[in-house]
Amino acid sequence: MYLDTGDEKVLAGEFGETRQKMMEILVALGNVYGAEKLVPITSAQVSGASYKTIGRWGLSWLQSLNARAAVPAVLNPIGMPQEGWREFGIAEEFARRQAEVVEAYRRLGIKLDCTCTPYYLRITEYGEHLAWSESSAVAYANSALGARTNREGGPSALAAAIIGKTPYYGLHIVENRLPQVVVEVEDGAGAHAGHWGAIGHIAGKRVGNRIPILQGIRPNRDQLKALGAAMAATGAVALFHVDKITPEARVFSFDTGNLDRVTVTADEVEALFTEMDVEAVAVGCPHCSADELRELAELLRGKKTKKPFYIFAAKGVTAANPDLVSVIERSGARVITDTCMVVSPRMDEFASIMVDSGKALAYVPGMCGALARIGTRQECVEVATS
Ligand code: F3S
Repeated sequence: MYLDTGDEKVLAGEFGETRQKMMEILVALGNVYGAEKLVPITSAQVSGASYKTIGRWGLSWLQSLNARAAVPAVLNPIGMPQEGWREFGIAEEFARRQAEVVEAYRRLGIKLDCTCTPYYLRITEYGEHLAWSESSAVAYANSALGARTNREGGPSALAAAIIGKTPYYGLHIVENRLPQVVVEVEDGAGAHAGHWGAIGHIAGKRVGNRIPILQGIRPNRDQLKALGAAMAATGAVALFHVDKITPEARVFSFDTGNLDRVTVTADEVEALFTEMDVEAVAVGCPHCSADELRELAELLRGKKTKKPFYIFAAKGVTAANPDLVSVIERSGARVITDTCMVVSPRMDEFASIMVDSGKALAYVPGMCGALARIGTRQECVEVATS
């Protein structure tokens, strides 16, 4: 892989041991994937932030590093809200360890916005190269925004943040972004036929790691977020196109005549919606947008929750919408920042959880050890308040 003179000096250790290690990670990755060069990035999003997922060894590794991020970089959700963790039910020992992880990232110059929706906090433009690691954020950046990022691991996203570059391979190259399979979404009359997380949950299983182009649907941006998150969870989708909707599907004319075709039927979508009593309700996977908070505030206005109801969102989004947060919290529901229903140990304490997300439906059983039920946001509010 070609390195310029500055990169060579970093690799030789002239700018410190941590930068040298980070460059070694990028060079190793580039060589494995046959990258011809490094490409500058405009931002990074670093996973491996919850102590629940990285544990003691991950923390020691982070504490051994000494450098600063060269580009704007944020963290993925951590295992607890940075403020109010005690009220959220987090144990002291976990909170102490999690705070050490956060401090290690702060020293590395990573902004402590802990979210899988960094695109709500900083504008990301079409064609920008990024190094993001959380799968739903990657799917959204590539698909809804037309930016370019591979799905980075925690260490490679951190390395890219510190060096300010990433290996130029995979989804950074336009030719690798063409659709490989057509997904037809059956237009059914079922009550949940328009549930984008559920459609993505089924579609992801069909397409696996291919790049799909979906036809016959007109999702808005929040719906693209839900769709992509679910396809990234049940498949390995890092980029998808929606005919006439997503930016690259409008810029390029794709020839889909020779591609495999799969169908998502309304019956399959409906079959995901099994009825089950639950101990808690959690929405905001991926983290809620301002519009989603507004919808929840309207649904909850004048109601009282009868079981724990958690709504996850980025701190930047909640701080910009205090009125919505107070309407929601007057109902007894809690708006929680910095963490989520999957990476926080708090959610491990429930045996069954209702979610509105196709991604959470896939992850909650394995990551929280709980049964998961999916519903619309309206159904989630009905279950939490009745
Ligand atoms: Fe985000 Fe957590 Fe879901 S990181 S996409 S809210 S599993």
